[in-house]
Amino acid sequence: MLGKIFITRHLFQETVKRLRAEVEVEENTEDRILSKPELIQRLMGMDGVIPLLPNVVDREVLQSASNLRVVANFGVGVDHIDVRAATELGIVVTNTPGVLTETTADLAWSLLMAAARRIVEADNFMRSRQFTAWGPKMLLGHDVFGKTLGIIGLGRIGQAIARRARGFNMRVIFTDAGRVKDDVVRELGATRVRLEELLRTSDYISLHAPLTPQTTHLLNDQAFEMMKPSCIVINTSRGPVIDEKALVRALKNGRISGAALDVFEHEPKVEPELLEMNNVVLAPHIGSGSYETRLKMSEMAADNLLSVLKGQRPPNIVNPDVWGNR
Ligand code: GLV
Repeated sequence: MLGKIFITRHLFQETVKRLRAEVEVEENTEDRILSKPELIQRLMGMDGVIPLLPNVVDREVLQSASNLRVVANFGVGVDHIDVRAATELGIVVTNTPGVLTETTADLAWSLLMAAARRIVEADNFMRSRQFTAWGPKMLLGHDVFGKTLGIIGLGRIGQAIARRARGFNMRVIFTDAGRVKDDVVRELGATRVRLEELLRTSDYISLHAPLTPQTTHLLNDQAFEMMKPSCIVINTSRGPVIDEKALVRALKNGRISGAALDVFEHEPKVEPELLEMNNVVLAPHIGSGSYETRLKMSEMAADNLLSVLKGQRPPNIVNPDVWGNR
C-alpha cells in the first residue's frame, strides 16, 4: 500500500474502489459536513486527502496533519485551500482543470438564458395554474442574440462562454488580469476593454475570474452603479467576487435588471432578500454538476493523488515549487 488517505465527503464508488487497490482509504461515508476539529482529527496519520467543499483546508489543518504529502482537490478553484501554507510545508496541492470547462460554461449559459427569458418565473406561473389565457405582454424577457456580453476573466471557462456567444451573434468584450493569447482572442472575435467600459456597455456580464484579493468584491456598489439598468449579471465563479449586499441594493433600486447565481458570498447561506426576488435565478453551486464531469473530476483527483504517493509528478499541480524543491 502506498499510504493512507482520507476523502472528506462521499465520493464516486468507482473511484474509491480504484484507490483501495493502492492505498488505505478512509471515507466520510455519511457525507456529513465535518467541523474543523473533526477534519483535523480525521487527517491524523493520513498521507493524502481529497477535500470536497465546503471543507476548508487552512494552515492549521495542514500543520496538524504531520504526515500529509498531497491535497488532491476535487475541482479547479483552490481558494478553500491555503496553497501558500501547503507549499511552505512541502505538501503538494493538485486540482482538476479542463474537464469541467464546458460543463460549467453550459450552466452559466443556462443561467443567462433562464434569467433573460424568465424561465423560472414562467415555470412557477404554470405550476401555480395562473396560465388561463395567452397574453401579448405576458412574462416578457430580453433578447440574447445580438446583445453585448461582458466576460470578466477570459480563461478556459470564459473562452468557452465566448464560443457559445458566437452562435448568438453577440458582441463579446472581456477583461482579464493576465495575458490572453492574441490568436485566441481573434478566434473568439472578442475585444479586450477596460473594466469600466465593460460595466457600462454590457447587456450581460458573466464572471469567470478566480477568487483572489484583487477579485474579492470586484462587483460592488460602485460597479453596479455603472451598469445599464437592463444589465443581467451571471456568476458561476466564486461568490465573494460579488458584494452580495451591494447586489441586493442594485436589484432593489432597479440599478440592474436581474442576476443568475450559482455561487454565494457566504455559501451555503444566501442573502435572504435574493430568495424573494423574481428577477433572480439561483442554483446551489452546480456549475460542474453533470454525471460525466463529476466522475471525471473524481478520477482526476485520484490520479493526481496516486501520482504524488508514487513519487511521480502529478498531472495537475497547483504549487509546482514544492515539486522543484524536493
Ligand atoms: C468548482 O467550483 C470548482 O472550482 O471546480
